[in-house]
Amino acid sequence: MLKGAVNRRRATEKDLPRDEKTLRSLLDPSRLPRHVAVIMDGNGRWAVKRGLPRSVGHRAGADSLREIVHLCAELGIGVLSAYAFSTENWRRPSEEVNFLMNLFVEYAGREVGELKRNGIRTRVIGRVDGLPPEVLDAVRMLEEETREGTRLVLNLAVNYGARWEIVDAVRAIAGEVQAGKLEPEEIDEAVIGTHLYTAGLPDPDLRIRPAAEFRVSNFLLWQLAYTEFYITPVLWPDFGRVDFLQALVSYQRRERRFGGVNR
Ligand code: FPP
Repeated sequence: MLKGAVNRRRATEKDLPRDEKTLRSLLDPSRLPRHVAVIMDGNGRWAVKRGLPRSVGHRAGADSLREIVHLCAELGIGVLSAYAFSTENWRRPSEEVNFLMNLFVEYAGREVGELKRNGIRTRVIGRVDGLPPEVLDAVRMLEEETREGTRLVLNLAVNYGARWEIVDAVRAIAGEVQAGKLEPEEIDEAVIGTHLYTAGLPDPDLRIRPAAEFRVSNFLLWQLAYTEFYITPVLWPDFGRVDFLQALVSYQRRERRFGGVNR
């Protein structure tokens, strides 16, 4: 088979086992991704297929997120980033935007206790200042209450856009240059990395996108430089432990070269 065809097949993997026990036996715990990023796509389609309002799909999507968060903590994955609301999502009908904002507040209030008990430090990445006050309060509460967690970092991307993230980093760096704290020649990849919302975290090793979407969609553009992509037709509300474990097994079957050659 041509190499390109092998890689395309690997991006969707149809031949993976479907039971948790077998999948777990295939996993090498010493080679788990340190950081997994997910785009929670397909909530609307999931609801429409059932003749339900899109909001029901988002609510079911929040349940999937909960399951995957706790699985990551259980497996020992260090960081999970989940795309909850993009800077482009404001273009959706106002009822849907309001529903998603309220859902975040509800999610924060309902999940905070368990996140804290499980050692899951929750951070929100994005332009949080652009969020409605009650959402901003929920963000601050979640971050404050869970800040002692050391088992898993959960990054929720809310009002997030990767291009805006880069703009914000460039503005901050330009400010430091203007203030005489930094020389232009000192700006390198590490300096940019420390000015992104994800400063201090490893780049994602694996990015999962459900609902058979092949786009990047303005999510972690800088950080995805060497990330492995896994795409599945499963819609996010149907995405569960088995689907996540399949993505991990697929990831571990790949050979990562980071632009070099493996001999
Ligand atoms: C994309 O699916 C999904 C979103 C824009 C929202 C994702 C939000 C959640 C899963 C809610 C849970 C998160 C928190 C933190 C409360 P889509 O609506 O574009 O689906 P479609 O492509 O099928 O229309």
